[in-house]
Amino acid sequence: MTGLIRDSGNLDVNSHYAHLLLCHHFHGTCIAAERGSDFIGFVSAYRPPEDPGVLFVWQIAVASSARGAGVAGGMLDQLVRRASGGRVHFVEATITATNTASIRLFTSFSRRLGVAITHRRLFPAELFHGVEQHESEDLYRMGPLPSTFSERNGVS
Ligand SMILES: CC(C)(COP(=O)(O)OP(=O)(O)OC[C@H]1O[C@@H](n2cnc3c(N)ncnc32)[C@H](O)[C@@H]1OP(=O)(O)O)[C@@H](O)C(=O)NCCC(=O)NCCS
Repeated sequence: MTGLIRDSGNLDVNSHYAHLLLCHHFHGTCIAAERGSDFIGFVSAYRPPEDPGVLFVWQIAVASSARGAGVAGGMLDQLVRRASGGRVHFVEATITATNTASIRLFTSFSRRLGVAITHRRLFPAELFHGVEQHESEDLYRMGPLPSTFSERNGVS
């Protein structure tokens, strides 16, 4: 996971230990994608303790050799299907303004679900003290999710 995130080129790299903690404490809301024996995708997400109706997607990455084939979209669908059951009403993620692929990914996801997508500035660039050329992060919010999501989307 650490290698995939590092090789993605535009995600903040976390430590191995951070990823182990993510998968240990939030295994119900993290997904890995494999093709044969290759590890080709990863999405980490969690439900904020003070706002458990939200599923916050922290990082999503697909290996460059596997992009453009629906892997990321499939992981998002599967993630929401697993986490829903009436408990999750909105999906959120932060995206920088120049990350076209990610904006398209979440726009496509909301279109597939037939839900609204809005965005607003969450973390302005100046908050990333000491991080070279870190862009502002905008919060994208999708929903409310249809209560029948898991029945309508037989993603596996
Ligand atoms: C963003 C990322 C995860 C997308 O993975 P992917 O498996 O290629 O995405 P999908 O094939 O599921 O495509 C989902 C949608 O995004 C669109 N899309 C994907 N990559 C795109 C690109 N480079 N430019 C424009 N649109 C793109 C697809 O056309 C599709 O839209 P559609 O359903 O309307 O046809 C991948 O490019 C990546 O790992 N990027 C680096 C890490 C990153 O930036 N993560 C997001 C941080 S918030």
